[in-house]
Order: sequence, then C-alpha cells, then structure tokens
Amino acid sequence: MQDYREFLEEILITEADLQKRIAELAQEIDKDYIGEDLHLVCILRGGILFLADLMRHLKTPNTIDFMAVSSYGAGARQTTGQVRITMDLKEDINNRNVLLVEDIVDSGYTIASVVEFLNMRHPKSLKVCTLLDKPERREVEVAIHYRGFTIPNKFVFGYGLDIDEYYRNLRFIGAVNPNHYQPPD
Ligand code: IMP
Ligand code: MG
Repeated sequence: MQDYREFLEEILITEADLQKRIAELAQEIDKDYIGEDLHLVCILRGGILFLADLMRHLKTPNTIDFMAVSSYGAGARQTTGQVRITMDLKEDINNRNVLLVEDIVDSGYTIASVVEFLNMRHPKSLKVCTLLDKPERREVEVAIHYRGFTIPNKFVFGYGLDIDEYYRNLRFIGAVNPNHYQPPD
C-alpha cells in the first residue's frame, strides 16, 4: 500500500478535534438517556474506533454489539441501495434502547437499511449516532440524532474509515487527493 502522505490532500479533522467532539457527543447522549440503559450497536468495520472512544466517555450504563452489512454489486466507493446483513447481532434488541454507531452517512442507504432491519425487532427506541455526515451525497432520507461533523463531498480516510481497507488506524480524518492515489491491484 502506498504511503498515505503521498495522497493526503489535507487533514480534515485533527485527533484533538475528534476527541473533543466525541466527548461532547457522549454528554449529549447521557443527557437523553437519564435513568435508562443503552445498547450500542456498532456497524463494522468503520465504526470501531468511534465506538471505543465514545463508550469511554459515556456515563449511561451500556452494553455493546456488532453487525456488518454489505452492498450488492457495489464498487469500493459506491453503494447501490441494496444492503444485506453479512454478520448479525449476537443479542436480541427487543425492548432495548438501541443506538447505532456509524462512521459516516454518505448516500444514506446503509444506515436506512439497518434502521429498517432493526425496527422489525421492536427495540424500545432506536437512534443513529454518526461521526461524519456527508449531506451533499445523500440519496435517501435518514434521521441522524447525534452527528459529530458535517464534511464536504470528499473521500476521507482514517479513524476507522478505510481507503481500500487500509489506514483505518490513523488518529485523524484525512481527505484523499484522487490525482495522487494509486489503487492497489
Ligand atoms: P452510504 O450507504 O452511502 O451512506 O455509505 C456508508 C458507507 O460507505 C460507510 O459506512 C463507509 O463504509 C463507506 N463510505 C462512504 N464514504 C466514505 C469515505 O469518504 N471514506 C471511507 N468510507 C466511506
Ligand atoms: Mg462503514
């Protein structure tokens, strides 16, 4: 894999800004769930760093679970609207307060489908928390209850988000300069 410094256009969100905003989000969430328990559902794989940092700030008693979804016939950067569960939750969500923890809402198809799947299981409540929102690319309406940052229409990587599966481990969010990026073969 190419060194990311060759295709990094700019650091869009620094580590310090991410951490500050995530602490604020946790406070917002805590305020809304007083006296309740919270079941955090992380959508793999992009949501894992966000989940790990968010849950460390939460004071609301919480449990976690994971699910993975994929889009039919989609290229790496594109969703088609056809989403299926590739790894389901371990636990029943019936009558629980579920909070979906997602890395980014782009077209909106992924989160809209997950909300639809999970609502069929009758949670007590179901809300969406996304670190990033790219509203210019939205194709389907989705309710976002907690949003870290609104970003411009650029391909981003780092802090859970991948570029061809690499660089999820970076502590910041960077934007790709497409002219300087060579996809791996
Ligand atoms: P949506 O279904 O179009 O909203 O796309 C959601 C998924 O596409 C996210 O969970 C990401 O995995 C991926 N994605 C969308 N935009 C980006 C990006 O800029 N960088 C990395 N992954 C992205
Ligand atoms: Mg993802």
